Amino acid sequence: MLKIETKVELNKIREFQKKLFMWYKNNNRDFPWRREKDPFKILLAEVLLQKTNVEKVQPVYKKLTTYCPTPEKLSDADVPAVREAIRPLGLHYKASRLTEMGSQILNQYKGSIPDEEKALLRLKGIGKYIASATLCFGFNKRVPIVDTNVIRVLDRVFGIKSEKNRPRNDKLLWDAASKLVPQRNPKKFNWALLDFSALICKKRHPLCSECPIISICKSYADTHSKEKEKPR
Ligand code: ADE
Repeated sequence: MLKIETKVELNKIREFQKKLFMWYKNNNRDFPWRREKDPFKILLAEVLLQKTNVEKVQPVYKKLTTYCPTPEKLSDADVPAVREAIRPLGLHYKASRLTEMGSQILNQYKGSIPDEEKALLRLKGIGKYIASATLCFGFNKRVPIVDTNVIRVLDRVFGIKSEKNRPRNDKLLWDAASKLVPQRNPKKFNWALLDFSALICKKRHPLCSECPIISICKSYADTHSKEKEKPR
């Protein structure tokens, strides 16, 4: 668990935020859903992004948001037409979930995307990650987002590990991640964290030589102190 009570850990969190923001200035990825203000389209993007890669999603997102720009249009849409629009993702099961989600938004929330986690979680196919991403990116709320990439950063930089079978649902990780999100610019911070974990702190070959937070990375320090200790 992040020991934010101590001054050292608080300083490390501040350093992490500062360095990440500085890096993001020149390294941010530009996606159409990041230019979007409408929470409905942002929610759609998050549904499409789950279990696939961002490059594949871009054309599908554009097609789907043109065809179904509102919850009403989505709830009225033919499932086969939605399936066709999302075909490049290879995730056919999402088509009926999407139209059902459109109907739910229309009927239960009068066509407006709810800005509370509890209500978002009631929508068809929406779990904690999508709910949090919608709250953050759609409503600029100060909430963490935890996916496998963010989990890797928490482990490497801060040494926070989950013992659970499904780390993505581990409260310990969500609580730790929530302490990292600054009061100001939570949206930008979470975008930066996603980009940093995808582009630098990669799973297989992390680019440590280009890492903006190498000076505070626990994993890097541990590995290199062990190397120094090795007898020659
Ligand atoms: N920008 C907003 N949400 C995102 C996500 N889930 N993955 C990558 N970039 C994003």
